[in-house]
Amino acid sequence: MTDAVLISETIEPGIVRLAFNRPDKLNALSSEVIRRLDEALDRIAADSGVRVVILTGAGERAFVAGADIGEYRGRRAKPFIAYQHESRRVFDKLESLPKPTIAAIRGYALGGGFEIALCCDVILCAASARLGLPEGLLGLSPGGGGSQRLVRAAGKYVASEVMLGARRITGERAFQLGLAAAVCPDEELTTAALERARAMLKVAPLAQAEMKRLIRIGPDAALPAAQTLEQEVLFRLYGTDDAEEGVAAFLDKRAARFRGE
Ligand code: COA
Repeated sequence: MTDAVLISETIEPGIVRLAFNRPDKLNALSSEVIRRLDEALDRIAADSGVRVVILTGAGERAFVAGADIGEYRGRRAKPFIAYQHESRRVFDKLESLPKPTIAAIRGYALGGGFEIALCCDVILCAASARLGLPEGLLGLSPGGGGSQRLVRAAGKYVASEVMLGARRITGERAFQLGLAAAVCPDEELTTAALERARAMLKVAPLAQAEMKRLIRIGPDAALPAAQTLEQEVLFRLYGTDDAEEGVAAFLDKRAARFRGE
């Protein structure tokens, strides 16, 4: 499906590409973009034919350059707070989507753009990628989980440099820091994202959904509780048809056909 501000298209069986599509505004997140993203995530969650989502930005210059600052003018608190609540809800929905997500970043991923990337399971950066949380330059601070996800993902000193100095992280540095799974020339980004998405199609969907939950929830729990959670997940998966199929396919030396059951 294509609409003005968010393009949603199946690019290969099982793989959907969501492209933020306001290139003249560096794909800034207007309220409408947030609404469209919310709807797209609901459609994707409900469609068992969709296995992997690639998020990207239209045009050469940006993934997403943050919230649409034009909507901030006038210091009206009510719509501002509503926008922040909505963004947080939708970003959380993205993070907890029970299917793998890949952020493929070319150019600016600032503010809400970086926050969206931090909600994805894999970040791939083109050499041109510039990641940052520059809200301090506006006299503000992040509101869509960016400060908290970045400090958890990259530690206090990286988060401090990025926020207190409004420093942008290059694609190469994001890779060195372990934020990005890879950095590649800009023209290879689409291929790199597709390669990873295809690999994800081979992993059982229920296992992916459960492992996503483990990765999301585990680090906030004490280790023994997190390990108990891990084993609960494994024991539940062991009883599924997909586990039976996966083991049988290995022993029969054939590709597994998972049905998500
Ligand atoms: N909200 C609204 N519009 C934005 C935007 C945003 N977050 N980011 C960029 N734009 C718009 C610009 O206003 C400009 O529109 P115009 O051509 O109608 O004037 C267009 O996108 C191109 O941006 P421009 O600033 O001219 O490009 P640049 O190369 O000089 O600078 C950035 C690029 C990303 C450094 C700069 O646009 C920027 O700092 N953006 C804001 C980033 C930010 O603070 N994000 C967090 C928001 S809470």
